[in-house]
Amino acid sequence: MGLSEDGPTYAIYHEVPFVGLGVFALTGSSKLLPHEIQLQYNLLLKWSTDLDQSEQRVQMEHKEVDGDDFSDITLRLFKLSDIDDFMVWATDDEASRFCSWETFSSKESTMEYIVNVIIPHSWFRAICLNGRPIGSISVTPNESSKYMCRAEIGYVIGSKYWGKGIVTRAVKMVANTIFVEWPHLERLEALVNDDNPGSQRVLEKAGFQREGVLRRYVIMKGRTRDMVIFSLLSTDHRLD
Ligand SMILES: CC(C)(COP(=O)(O)OP(=O)(O)OC[C@H]1O[C@@H](n2cnc3c(N)ncnc32)[C@H](O)[C@@H]1OP(=O)(O)O)[C@@H](O)C(=O)NCCC(=O)NCCS
Repeated sequence: MGLSEDGPTYAIYHEVPFVGLGVFALTGSSKLLPHEIQLQYNLLLKWSTDLDQSEQRVQMEHKEVDGDDFSDITLRLFKLSDIDDFMVWATDDEASRFCSWETFSSKESTMEYIVNVIIPHSWFRAICLNGRPIGSISVTPNESSKYMCRAEIGYVIGSKYWGKGIVTRAVKMVANTIFVEWPHLERLEALVNDDNPGSQRVLEKAGFQREGVLRRYVIMKGRTRDMVIFSLLSTDHRLD
């Protein structure tokens, strides 16, 4: 630690900026004796080390909850109070890319969607990690009684959670419960963009059968798409 004509704090600031700033805050412009400065310097150094350690602790706790453990996946109904969590993936261009909806840009339009589409929907669930929604999964029945034997599954999670096995787990959970909840259902199907290999892999891992490509099947976001069709029958072998 050095001292200068301009006062002790100036020199400390240059050697250890954060601690020097703290000394400056404590001493202001008053002149202190060198041993008093050393004492304050030591105290601040300890304080900043403690702060550092407590920040690391907080980061580690955050990592345990949000970073490494992706096993606590649950499905539940949405609540209006989920709006802020919902906004995370609803405003994520990466996540909406292969979905029929456009990326949301305001809280109002997202809330409108929750109220008008999600809450009245016959089967729409939040995919929760450690109890907090990080995405959604839905099963939409066919409106016509002629086709009531089948329903379509759809899903999305925020891009920061991709590749952790979360949606595969969620799809398996749905596959294991929906045929019990809806005894009339015989076929759960999924239509996936041909250029969305991640989603196709999810369905394969969850035990769905790839049936083929429906060429130029749907116009989505201004482009006509080829869609790959997958299905799982109520009688098919179910994976845990
Ligand atoms: C597609 C999506 C649902 C996958 O969810 P996820 O939780 O990341 O999926 P999982 O981690 O369970 O499995 C993804 C699998 O796809 C694979 N995958 C991902 N991207 C891939 C790519 N570009 N090419 C090949 N495989 C790919 C992963 O490696 C993994 O397979 P593995 O376990 O054999 O390695 C997620 O990316 C998403 O929400 N995308 C945006 C919305 C969307 O596309 N919804 C589906 C509309 S049909």
